[in-house]
Amino acid sequence: MQEIEQYLTDHRARNENELFELLRMASVSTDSQYAAEVAKAGNWVADQFHAMGFTTEVVQTKGHPIVYAETPAVAGAPIVLVYGHYDVQPPDPLDEWISPPFEPVVREGNVVARGATDDKGQMLTHIKSAQAWMDTAGSLPVQIKYVIEGEEECGSSNLEPFLEEYRDRLACDIAVISDTSQFAKNQPAITYGLKGIVYFEVFLEGPKQDLHSGTFGGSVYNPLNALTQMLAAFVDDQGRIQIPGFYDDVVELEQRERDQFAALPFNEQQFKDKVGVDTVHGEAGYTTLERRWARPTLDINGIWGGYQGEGAKTVLPGKSGAKFSCRLVPNQEPEKIGAAIEKMLQDLVPNGIRMEVKHHHGAPAVVVDLDSPYMAAAARAIEQGFGVAPVFIREGGSIPVVTVLRDLLGVDTLLLGWGLDDDNTHGPNEKFSLEDFYRGTKASASLWQEISKIKRAVE
Ligand code: BES
Ligand code: ZN
Repeated sequence: MQEIEQYLTDHRARNENELFELLRMASVSTDSQYAAEVAKAGNWVADQFHAMGFTTEVVQTKGHPIVYAETPAVAGAPIVLVYGHYDVQPPDPLDEWISPPFEPVVREGNVVARGATDDKGQMLTHIKSAQAWMDTAGSLPVQIKYVIEGEEECGSSNLEPFLEEYRDRLACDIAVISDTSQFAKNQPAITYGLKGIVYFEVFLEGPKQDLHSGTFGGSVYNPLNALTQMLAAFVDDQGRIQIPGFYDDVVELEQRERDQFAALPFNEQQFKDKVGVDTVHGEAGYTTLERRWARPTLDINGIWGGYQGEGAKTVLPGKSGAKFSCRLVPNQEPEKIGAAIEKMLQDLVPNGIRMEVKHHHGAPAVVVDLDSPYMAAAARAIEQGFGVAPVFIREGGSIPVVTVLRDLLGVDTLLLGWGLDDDNTHGPNEKFSLEDFYRGTKASASLWQEISKIKRAVE
């Protein structure tokens, strides 16, 4: 390992430059305007694998390509599947970026660019670690199968058909994803739980067009009044979600886990300062970490209608709409919750308003096994890479593929996050610590070694 660490130290600048190269590609998957840049980023990833002599395919889908690569088989050693994504979220709001989103710059030890942490920088650590092994030892101690997709940020709709088609080739013992965060700076973490999600969009229509609010106000239902009344019914002022049956399947947190959360060095004042609030808010009876990691939530993600321009306009809008989503916890079923939400919307919509409901993506929450030899191997590898043992955390984000990998391939996922929760993912000025890029690559290189020591469960 010493030789590999030395290699990674010697090649730090090259690896960073290559990350910057990938960050210059505006691979925004949700907007077709960027399709050529998405394809370019996919090919760039494929070229990394080609250059190392790995069997590589750029698999075309109905959407953006999936890059699949395999390193040579290693008899007796476990097989690892690495999942990552080379696509990014749109860079908006553009005017809030200090420097252009696709022109990476280094500021205070961080590379600042869209996709820096989510997920180009984190994903690349698992490619650069393989390169370090190949260039020093000439081979890897485990076989790695890479699935690097280009549609994670817009729903991964072509991933499952790919995984089904390639199911036999993807046979593996464990999956690894780096698309999460450390607990804090210099406190790496292994994430053992993620939330699930259901996402809705609702469109309301009242009068056939916008009306004068003086002439017509009080005589017809204003779709924006209706919308805000309906949405307000979903959560009470104690943060309890009012969807009938919403909590029925929620498994209460055990005291042991509450104690573990409470034992983590979480500083509420620092948290408030970081996000810019005077006071925290959420479901009554739970701590901030419990709410963030293990309690279901509902957030309105967007709302529109009426006049948004400068000044005042006395209008009674003809239409309104909103996007909202619930983050789910283990044992809640997205389909069941989705049906309950649709029913509640139907029950709430007042006479005089027409409604259309669109049910977007959904995914269940996931908790992975903490007592596996792979978990222990990952903990050792992180300690080697970061010089600090990881803590075990849950997070509130969702990575739907984790459940698919479990259901389809029967494997658990190691969620090894190198990011920080203030990396501004999906927001302006996204960043990733270059020190953590380096340490994450070292941890990844150690991980292949540590996993190779595990005897495969099934030969
Ligand atoms: N990297 C995130 C997932 C994540 C975020 C994990 C925060 C842990 C903490 C991923 O790229 C993402 O944004 N996922 C989406 C999934 C959704 C669109 C189905 C999310 O969580 O909003
Ligand atoms: Zn993301």
